[in-house]
Amino acid sequence: MEDAPVIDVVKDFTGALPTIVIADLLGVPSEDRLLFKQWVDHLFLPLPKDNAEDVNELKRRAAKEYYDYLFPHIVRKRSNLTDDIISDLIRVEVDGERLSDDEIVRTTMFLLGAGIETTSHLLANTFYSFLYDDTSIYSEVRASRELLPNTVEEMLRYRFHIAKMDRTVKQDNRVLGVHLKKAMSSSPG
Ligand code: HEM
Repeated sequence: MEDAPVIDVVKDFTGALPTIVIADLLGVPSEDRLLFKQWVDHLFLPLPKDNAEDVNELKRRAAKEYYDYLFPHIVRKRSNLTDDIISDLIRVEVDGERLSDDEIVRTTMFLLGAGIETTSHLLANTFYSFLYDDTSIYSEVRASRELLPNTVEEMLRYRFHIAKMDRTVKQDNRVLGVHLKKAMSSSPG
């Protein structure tokens, strides 16, 4: 953003920051973060009603370029494990089985989708709330930083696009100490 007098907060900040953070967490060289941003922008574009095929083509191309970029990176990392998510995915072993390079690339794509869309929407919605819902919140939080954790929690509660995700209980179950009973009607889920 540097000294730009006007910025597009979504493009320049709320979309960019989570991509940079996840690229760092994955262990991708920092000079390639911008490549990442471009692929992520295309991979997670919403499908429009018209010209869906054009957007699908952009997604296919981004997925291929992402794959072609990351695959050799993972192969190289196998002989140089460090403290990052790709190294963890290489190390992980379940029932004597390890992930293949192909599975690791696909897992990182899943993590990108799960980790970037959510956090960038949270940041963008927070800006929106500061600017439009209640203009006094920003100065209040700025003056008392200890309010930040609750501000984030409240943003996730008040303005979040995936707050409602239905689940169907298919069999009697216990999750984190809560007893769940099998649903009567069998809707898909
Ligand atoms: C504001 C931030 C985030 C929110 C609100 C959020 C929300 C959610 C929700 C609601 C689910 C579905 C849970 C369910 O099955 O009912 C989910 C799943 C998941 N999230 Fe997040 N998420 C956030 C950030 C992240 C980040 C940063 C990552 C990774 C770096 C991540 C990785 C995942 C994964 C891997 C799953 C699937 C888990 C599974 O099915 O086993 N999320 N998240």
